[in-house]
Amino acid sequence: MADLIKDIDIIEEQEAAQCETVKVSEDDDTGRGRKLYIESYGCQMNFSDSEIVSSIMKDHGFDTTSNVDNADVIFINTCSIREKAEVTVRNRLNHFQGVKKRKPDTTIGVLGCMAERLKSKLLEEEKIVDLVAGPDAYRDLPNLVQQVDEGHKAVNTFLSREETYADISPVRLDSNGVTAFISIMRGCDNMCSFCVVPFTRGRERSRDPHSIVAEAKELLNKGFREVTLLGQNVDSYKWSPNAALKGKAQIEKAGEDNVVNFAHLLEMVAKVSPQLRIRFSTSHPKDITDEVLHTMKKYNNICKYIHLPAQSGNSRVLELMNRTYDREWYLERVESIRRILGQECGISSDMIAGFCSETEEEHLDTLTLMDEVKYDFSYMFFYSERPGTLAAKKFPDDIPLEIKKRRLNEIIDKQRAHSLERNQLDVGKTHEVLIEGYSKRSDDFLQGRNSANKVIIFPKSKYKKGQFVNVYVEDCTAATLSGYAVES
Ligand code: SAH
Ligand code: SF4
Ligand code: F3S
Repeated sequence: MADLIKDIDIIEEQEAAQCETVKVSEDDDTGRGRKLYIESYGCQMNFSDSEIVSSIMKDHGFDTTSNVDNADVIFINTCSIREKAEVTVRNRLNHFQGVKKRKPDTTIGVLGCMAERLKSKLLEEEKIVDLVAGPDAYRDLPNLVQQVDEGHKAVNTFLSREETYADISPVRLDSNGVTAFISIMRGCDNMCSFCVVPFTRGRERSRDPHSIVAEAKELLNKGFREVTLLGQNVDSYKWSPNAALKGKAQIEKAGEDNVVNFAHLLEMVAKVSPQLRIRFSTSHPKDITDEVLHTMKKYNNICKYIHLPAQSGNSRVLELMNRTYDREWYLERVESIRRILGQECGISSDMIAGFCSETEEEHLDTLTLMDEVKYDFSYMFFYSERPGTLAAKKFPDDIPLEIKKRRLNEIIDKQRAHSLERNQLDVGKTHEVLIEGYSKRSDDFLQGRNSANKVIIFPKSKYKKGQFVNVYVEDCTAATLSGYAVES
């Protein structure tokens, strides 16, 4: 029983790692503005969107606050990826009910994926909500707030084929001043059968590479030393200088020579400065090319780490999931990574346990895939049916919860063993670390990451946040490496 509870805690931790984390706006007080409190859930793209929202609101006279009781406007930027993510949001809305009772003229707005999924239904279901805005409607927020000021409920869930917010310089929230995210595309054109994202984020569109490079330069000038390029499927990034051809399908149809693909974009950002590290996420196994891997190899400042979600190790399940690759294709991609970038390149995954009709043998295929790849890290979930998705329409959610959780625990146990094994390979070696700040446990220690995205902890000595330092790794757990700084 104790073991079961421990394992469920781990599941919760896992969920927290990706989709239940909350980020809250910081205090930015000009003394002139109305106050905006923004709380964000879900993936990095959602956090990055909250920075765009803060920027738009700031331009319309709003300061951000970290104290919900001081807010004139409360935005909750939501996630729909699993049922639990939506339950968390509903609980927070209940909490905000108390705030609204104390200050009835507080405006409460729901943004993001849940807003897009439920649209105006949210206003009926959650009476305290005044405003609903989907991910492509953020430029309209000041106007929507004004509609609420005038006594109306306000909704905009229009999904755009063009909006990339390319011209908006995000207000960095909850920032360590060292690492930042840059959205390079929006939406998703894949139709993985379990996934709600194509419905909540709309069609895939790529952002102008020049605006991406400009944002990277701006961050470098402000002292940032690492950027992560974000998209649901970065490897299908495509942009054409011909402004009329914005859709990916149109770009492909036009067969233009001067199309910027993801490998080109990586190179453009890598050239901004050798002092700026580049990461990216997420790579889709069907789209990641050897050209991208060779570009990674060519530039020292492109981190040797790839998040390559497999979801399952069984080809039949992958087909039902509509991932458009099979086990062999996936393993061939991993082989290419190892061949071009070597054993030291970090590889991580997302795994879903207990997808519709998954048999015990098919679950074992996920475990053997993990044995073959030896991931450094994984985000692991049990399947949660999402209304409106292809899987919800076509396949019964027929694996009992206890079996889903048991399979998930087996996946988690395997991952923990592999993380330890992979970390042990780093012991006795020196790693270049970008210092992100104090270690969570003690201000006598600093922490940062190596190129492969592993967290490394070491005594502070004379070093500071934002510096690159060589650290000799002496020890490890499944989660972190530890050692001491050495002069290069
Ligand atoms: N674009 C990324 C994934 C974004 S969603 C990709 O294709 O890899 C993040 C992860 O949530 C997914 O990789 C998947 O593992 C998980 N996920 C998505 N929908 C889910 C569902 N209905 N139930 C359980 N996990 C899900
Ligand atoms: Fe969802 Fe698949 Fe798109 Fe990822 S690639 S966001 S899992 S539909
Ligand atoms: Fe969640 Fe939407 Fe991101 S559903 S994972 S916030 S794209």
